[in-house]
Amino acid sequence: MKQVEKDPSNPRPANGAQTISDLIGLRLSRRGFVGGLVATSSLTVYGCSIARFKTTSDASFQFSEIARGIDKTHHVPKGYSADILMRWGDPLFSDSPDFDPLNQSAAAQRRQFGCNNDYIGFVPLEPNEDDEARALLCVNHEYTSTTMMFPGVAENYPDSITKEHCEIEMAGHGGSVIEVVRRNGSWSPVVPSDYNRRITADSTPMEVAGPAAGHERLRTSDDPEGMVVSGTMYNCAGGVTPWGTYLMAEENIHAYFQGSLSEGHSETQNHKRYGVPGSWFQWARHFDRYNIGVEPNEPNRFGWIVEVDPMDPESKPKKRTALGRFKHEGAESVIAPNGRLVLYSGDDERFEYVYKFVSASVVNKEDRNANKDLLDDGSLYAARFNEDGTVDWLLLAYGEGPLTAENGFYSQADVVIEARRAADELGATPMDRPEDIEPDAESGRVWVMLTNNNRRKEDQVNAANPRPDNQHGHIIEIIEPNGDFTATQSQWNFLVKCGDPDDPAFGAVWNPETSENGWFGSPDNCAVDPTGRLWIATDGNERTGAADGVWAMETDGPLRGTGRAFFRAPVGAEVCGPKFTPDSKTLFLSVQHPGDARDLSYETPSTRWPDFKSDMPPRPAVLAIKRNDGGDIGS
Ligand code: FEO
Ligand code: CA
Ligand code: CA
Ligand code: CA
Repeated sequence: MKQVEKDPSNPRPANGAQTISDLIGLRLSRRGFVGGLVATSSLTVYGCSIARFKTTSDASFQFSEIARGIDKTHHVPKGYSADILMRWGDPLFSDSPDFDPLNQSAAAQRRQFGCNNDYIGFVPLEPNEDDEARALLCVNHEYTSTTMMFPGVAENYPDSITKEHCEIEMAGHGGSVIEVVRRNGSWSPVVPSDYNRRITADSTPMEVAGPAAGHERLRTSDDPEGMVVSGTMYNCAGGVTPWGTYLMAEENIHAYFQGSLSEGHSETQNHKRYGVPGSWFQWARHFDRYNIGVEPNEPNRFGWIVEVDPMDPESKPKKRTALGRFKHEGAESVIAPNGRLVLYSGDDERFEYVYKFVSASVVNKEDRNANKDLLDDGSLYAARFNEDGTVDWLLLAYGEGPLTAENGFYSQADVVIEARRAADELGATPMDRPEDIEPDAESGRVWVMLTNNNRRKEDQVNAANPRPDNQHGHIIEIIEPNGDFTATQSQWNFLVKCGDPDDPAFGAVWNPETSENGWFGSPDNCAVDPTGRLWIATDGNERTGAADGVWAMETDGPLRGTGRAFFRAPVGAEVCGPKFTPDSKTLFLSVQHPGDARDLSYETPSTRWPDFKSDMPPRPAVLAIKRNDGGDIGS
């Protein structure tokens, strides 16, 4: 059992009592605490906890915890198994060539499952007679690890990178829509399927929609109207809307650009604010599109949320500019009690912001088509986390407050293109790298993963980011008042401060019931399961000396703030896209960049997971995890 100290910096406010009573009403509907309500002493250690209503025997999770550690393969709890569903290079179409790592081509990669799977969306389909379930999986392919992907390029990198390598990389980016079916308890891909689709960084035309559509700052020589972008890149996490469309978040878009702007160019400040040019990739050596000296507006065409209709493989994805341009980690949404859609998104960079978007119109639950442009009109807000435990949502609207011509904002297009600078002007709170943000419709709570920030100095801490050199991140809980996700003032508190609770150097805060396996660092993706329980996947836990993985997290009762280790990834991998099936029988996970690490290459991976063949590189893959007895995951 871990000993943890009471959190001295918990900003839980003087108005905590009010919050607790608010929460009791909000939280009880699903989780059945009503029968257990017994007023006892007040609790403050874990913020607004209604901890007193549960005892330690009330653990929400029933699986036997796996051990901390790191090795070449993955691990699941006793009584569970993990099926490999799709790997990088697997076929999606009847004409997909077999994966041949020594003879890759862009044409083949466009017909195969892409690289570095990240977000997983689940869109149920009507099952056929012999099926237990059928669905579309919508999977992002975030990026390519160039020197892990191609044989023979590491030694002379980056000069070794040819135009063909770049084209293969572009084809490995984007997303896949795959029909999947469950029979006899196991999922398998349906190949071929009329639904299957590849979206790539260069070959998928996308319409620009919303306030920046057609704006001169989005025009290029390929697209003089500023209305159609070929492709999407660095698609990290995402979301599925209530009407069943797939949202792809464009994250580290600066990575692809090289070159320099002409002296005094009007985009100089904007590009600098977004880290453009990032020069992580060599595409600009072979394609002018990624050279900002040639195409200064091209970076403004990325950093958006892309909406895809997975039911229609011919449909043109749309870049929804009303949601703002930044390094979107994800795009999880919820319908507010007044019927509007509220979408949360973190900007994953050190000192960047948390945002939410509230649609102007209500979601039409009867007519899917009526929602087709719902994301083009609404209010975009950035969060200011106050010391008194409140959150103010600051409206990014042209003409309001400082967002005027005086400060270089001439329209809402400028506001969304430079959402970061608009949020700076409004005084949003610089965070420790906001990653996935998950709202829970039932409880009115929203969980924000803050992965880490090793650049925050002592004099830069704030109430919501209280640790300088925050190596291991923390998790914040936002409470929307009375479950009204559209609110412009909310409450916040800490769920946990990550890292080793036994090492006082980090100031980690966990529930003392957390075992030696239950704590972690660098929370990244998360999911709320069908019963309202929170699950967290990590990217960077190797910094603590153990593999990345998935942890179940107690959010209520005396166990609030207790982690429990559920899944361990192979060495080098992070875990993304946790997604539960609506019946809780399956947890889909993305294992991304297995075997990767600085200075490793195609020739020297730290594992060859999941094939373990000497002539096969490690392959990112989507897993389907199930309980061997067919029961609900984690129960
Ligand atoms: Fe793509 Fe912030 O992880
Ligand atoms: Ca992530
Ligand atoms: Ca998520
Ligand atoms: Ca991350």
